[in-house]
Amino acid sequence: LGKNLIVLDSVGSTNDYLKHLGSEGCENGTVVVTHEQTKGKGRLGRSWTSERDDNLTFSILLRPRMAPKDMVDITPLTGLAICQALRDYTGLDLKIKWPNDIILGKKKLVGILTEMSAEFDAVEYIVTGIGINVDQTTFPDEISHKATSLLIATGRHYDKNRLLAGLLGRIEEAFVRSNLALSAETISEYKKLCASIGKSVTFKSGTRSISGVAVDIDEDGALKVMLSDGSLRTVNAGEVTVQGI
Ligand code: BTN
Repeated sequence: LGKNLIVLDSVGSTNDYLKHLGSEGCENGTVVVTHEQTKGKGRLGRSWTSERDDNLTFSILLRPRMAPKDMVDITPLTGLAICQALRDYTGLDLKIKWPNDIILGKKKLVGILTEMSAEFDAVEYIVTGIGINVDQTTFPDEISHKATSLLIATGRHYDKNRLLAGLLGRIEEAFVRSNLALSAETISEYKKLCASIGKSVTFKSGTRSISGVAVDIDEDGALKVMLSDGSLRTVNAGEVTVQGI
């Protein structure tokens, strides 16, 4: 990853920029990192805001040779690799909030957004974008109670270039080791670090809000939720907002 590394001064969104390069044929493993993102995107159409140089903001392009139906969501793999790496670097008790937020206590430190383009029955490319709050000390009002940064949590400034190099190595290792599939071992490691299991969650299904307790992660990385009548529901990442940790 990152043999082709593009460093930008400012861009709307590294995901959009890399998707554009992807349709023009850039190589597998291309990485785009930027000092500033002016239209950062979050999951479910939300925005991802960051001040210049405070956020480590990058995207990775992969060209897996497989049909879309065989493609698992690589977000849990990426989230797990980043969570484990950041735990090692910082000593913080970081956890994963299903599906892909990395949190400290109840506060979010990292967000991940994966987008896929498929053509002619094959996955043309996948872009995974990662935003890590590194040096932020203030956040917009609406998220300030639920966001944190490495600086706030550790009192230390982390070198963003070294952090990026280390994380790319760990993500690549996880991709190669897993062959981009979710093995039972990966799911079990993911579950150990997943803060959502055993917690009350609310998710939206159409216009309805449904509450239950998160009980498990299945082999596809979906969340199993037990409802009050004892029945189990499988919740997929693309469809829902999950409240609670
Ligand atoms: C989320 O938590 O909702 C996902 C946030 C993903 C943010 C990253 S920053 C780099 C990449 N470019 C984007 O526009 N978004 C992702």
